[in-house]
Amino acid sequence: MSLLSALRERTRILHVEVEEAMDIMDPELTLDIYRQTLLTFHRFYSELQTRLDAHPSHYPEYNFSVKPQLSRLEADLKFLGVTAQKPTGPVSFPMPEIADDSLRMGIFYVIEGSALGGQLITRHIKQKLEITPESGGSFFHGSGDQTAQNWKRFLTQLSAFDSKIEQHKGVLTGAEATFSGLLDLMRAGQSVHKGTTSDETRLRH
Ligand code: HEM
Repeated sequence: MSLLSALRERTRILHVEVEEAMDIMDPELTLDIYRQTLLTFHRFYSELQTRLDAHPSHYPEYNFSVKPQLSRLEADLKFLGVTAQKPTGPVSFPMPEIADDSLRMGIFYVIEGSALGGQLITRHIKQKLEITPESGGSFFHGSGDQTAQNWKRFLTQLSAFDSKIEQHKGVLTGAEATFSGLLDLMRAGQSVHKGTTSDETRLRH
């Protein structure tokens, strides 16, 4: 089985769970829910960047970075008049230390893959909220027309790991941890949204 097939198999249910936890494709999508979603992603990307920055990549062919997406999130939040606050206290985020590039590869499988769904979300928010990439929707738009090409480029990099069987475990762990981390933050955000406290959510971890 190729590494890509293993990643798809291992994260299929997590993808469904993340999609369900996000209210963003809801026909009743509101601006409030949209803003909350951006805040959750902002928290997630900020935390991820801190963790990625803690360990330099030794893999030269791919320029791993969540910085462009983080900048887009900041621009969208600013446009929509939301102040993104740096989270205080510990963030419940089950992610192993990114000590080698196999974990990094798994993380970026999720980050790059999410841009594919972002294109559908872009159409939806335009339809429901009249939000365009220029008016608070640049995060989900991401690289826009370049998305398919970026994904192909990522898959080429990933295929270089096919023969490195000893690294597969790390790639799978990185992808699972990334999906799970986001899912945790989404569920915590949702419970705040639905009226319970984030502290109650944190107690589960
Ligand atoms: C409601 C939100 C979402 C929708 C509707 C959605 C939809 C999709 C679609 C349609 C694809 C397949 C595209 C294709 O094969 O051409 C895809 C792929 C993918 N999505 Fe999502 N997505 C959503 C959210 C997310 C999020 C939040 C993440 C992770 C942070 C994510 C991670 C991925 C990954 C990793 C793939 C690549 C799967 C593969 O081909 O191996 N998605 N998504």
